[in-house]
Amino acid sequence: MALYDFTRSYQMLEEAKKVVPGGIYGPRSPSFLTYGSYPAFMVHGEGCRVWDVDGNEYIDYMCSFGTNVLGLRHPKVEAAARAQWDKGDCFTLPTDRWVEAAHAIVDRVEVADWVVFGKNGSDATNYAVTVARAFTGKKIILKAFGSYHGIGPWCVPIPVGIPEEITALTKQFPYGDLNAARALFEAHKDNIACVIITPMKHDTFQNIEFPTREFLDGVRKLCDEQGALLISDDIRCGFRLDMGGSHVYFGYKPDMVTFGKAMANGYPIAVATGSERLKEIAQRVFYSGTHFFSGVPMAAAIACMKAIEEEGAIAHMAEMGKLLRQGLDEQSKKYGVPVTNSGPPAIPYMIFAKDMNFDKARYFCGEAAKRGIFLHPHHNWFLSAAHKQADIEKTLKVTDECFKLTKEKFGDK
Ligand SMILES: Cc1ncc(COP(=O)(O)O)c(C=O)c1O
Repeated sequence: MALYDFTRSYQMLEEAKKVVPGGIYGPRSPSFLTYGSYPAFMVHGEGCRVWDVDGNEYIDYMCSFGTNVLGLRHPKVEAAARAQWDKGDCFTLPTDRWVEAAHAIVDRVEVADWVVFGKNGSDATNYAVTVARAFTGKKIILKAFGSYHGIGPWCVPIPVGIPEEITALTKQFPYGDLNAARALFEAHKDNIACVIITPMKHDTFQNIEFPTREFLDGVRKLCDEQGALLISDDIRCGFRLDMGGSHVYFGYKPDMVTFGKAMANGYPIAVATGSERLKEIAQRVFYSGTHFFSGVPMAAAIACMKAIEEEGAIAHMAEMGKLLRQGLDEQSKKYGVPVTNSGPPAIPYMIFAKDMNFDKARYFCGEAAKRGIFLHPHHNWFLSAAHKQADIEKTLKVTDECFKLTKEKFGDK
């Protein structure tokens, strides 16, 4: 098979650098992937496949960092969005999709008695911690080291341009370490507004870890004892593990939950939700955005959540993820290239043994990209309902070759 050529992608990247800082910023930059082994710009997509500006086709396991849950251009979601487009998207006032979209969440998520809409996950997490501060009258936010909650100044992972006074109000503990969380509660007694956690530890560059019962119960208890709120940031995992929220999958009860990514199959919408007792204060926290009220993403969200249920998407993603993992594990053994596959099957991730600098991962995933399989070397992957058995089989043919190449290049190192 001829390896992919990315000439047009990199020409465009150079053109982009003249008018956009860095050309492409953040984790979508080919430098963050493996410079030269990945495309830079996509043209179109269908189902679980995407095509780049050089005309190369990929089976995509990044699913646009999680938004593509049903398959790109899913007919029911597209029809719902198109019907709203035909009437108009962004008006002076919300559309008549507003209440229906709120119900799409409130009716499915037990702890959610109300929702507010934003565009990106960061809108939702920023709002949630602000509600917690307003409700408790306290200032400090507890979060886990390495847990990503977006680009709010209180949590942005690289705080360039953020005053220390702001970052000092966020305190961090190792995910899952109840004693460390308890010590922070002790040290900042009576000043902790909230603990914000992701449903599982899904940090970049690390194996995915599930929370323990002891940690979840312990954090809940600490919050209750000290009058702090527990926020579940379900932006990444939401609607891939359980329609009621990933806290149901892992068994804990937050006071607020944030969703985004998968909720509208790629249309820009995110929500923060909370329990009844927070509704009055939520109303007083100022929250607005020019596009927060647009109707198309709401129409898409309503259709998307219904389709996830109707099509049994969650069970299907888990099944496909299991097949993928089983294949990767077998190939790792076959070639004597040890790896750890972690995470729930619908949100999997693979790390190579003895790969501190991620050289093996970059090489492996880069070689896969050159052969039409889009994996990320140091960020978790995503399955969608559009990944079918034939796609997994095709993927495993490529990864077999990539394992072989990785063994040849790195040997037993
Ligand atoms: C757990 C979590 N929270 C918040 C965010 C921020 O979402 P967004 O990039 O849509 O602002 C992300 C994005 O990856 C995320 O994974």
